[in-house]
Amino acid sequence: MSHRNFNLAGVIGNPVGHSRSPKIHNHWLHQHGLSGSYIAMEISAEDFPQVIKTLPKMGFRGVNVTIPFKELVLQHVDIVSDTAAIIGAANTVIYRKNGTSYADNTDSAGFINNIRDMAPDWHPDRGPALVIGAGGAARAVIQSLLWEGVATVFVTNRTRQRAEMLATDFGNRVKLINFSELTGILPTMMMVVNTTSMGMHGMPDLMIPFDRLNPRAVVSDIVYTPRETHFLRKAHKQGCEVVDGLGMLLHQAARSFDYWFDVKPEIDDAVYTIAMDT
Ligand code: ATR
Repeated sequence: MSHRNFNLAGVIGNPVGHSRSPKIHNHWLHQHGLSGSYIAMEISAEDFPQVIKTLPKMGFRGVNVTIPFKELVLQHVDIVSDTAAIIGAANTVIYRKNGTSYADNTDSAGFINNIRDMAPDWHPDRGPALVIGAGGAARAVIQSLLWEGVATVFVTNRTRQRAEMLATDFGNRVKLINFSELTGILPTMMMVVNTTSMGMHGMPDLMIPFDRLNPRAVVSDIVYTPRETHFLRKAHKQGCEVVDGLGMLLHQAARSFDYWFDVKPEIDDAVYTIAMDT
């Protein structure tokens, strides 16, 4: 069998044991009658450069890259997409037939495609957005909101300096605010997104002045364990439309799958059930 008839992909990171990606991608491979496999591979930082070079020789179409290699990977591929370059991190590597490796960040499209799916009435013209956090996930979300046409994105973060760097990178459509200013600006925010790990199992909940949320705002969380976070529950109580993080996970996965295997997988109830199953 030629390498390219066997559909091989995976995720490299450290640790990767908790990753839900193998379940998701193997489900789609099976669903589409494709032979192959998606596997989790835990590797050391020392071995990373060699692993990235060797995988295509072993027949891999590509890999997802996760913590702590999302930034490092940019230095070890031939081509970096504009999206990944702006975000400063990639989560997907594609090994092209011509022998070059290409890195992209599918979190960005994953976020906005999930919003389009789950909150179809939301429109970028509705008003400004607030992004809480300033890490890689925040950059992916901000990029997608700016590309979608949101005029102004406000950002707040525990460590102000990190948010300052982010604001400098994105330019004047991104505005930095202090946490204490949320009370004043929340009523005008039409999209509010948590990109921090707050609210995840084992982490404290994210507390914002929930009573200041505009009921017309769409509120989203990138945390998906639990699927309904305290943050989303409180926003829902305020009358906001809420979009959970599991959809973003599935949408970024679907885009990677399409890159490698040239098939757009369906994001249906079956894959939601599989992704939730721990
Ligand atoms: P990712 O790539 O998933 O975005 P990251 O780059 O580590 O991960 O970013 C994590 C984000 O969650 C940051 O905005 C971080 O705030 P700091 O920049 O101040 O570290 C935020 N975060 C994590 N734990 C937090 C906590 N306990 N309280 C407030 N913010 C927290």
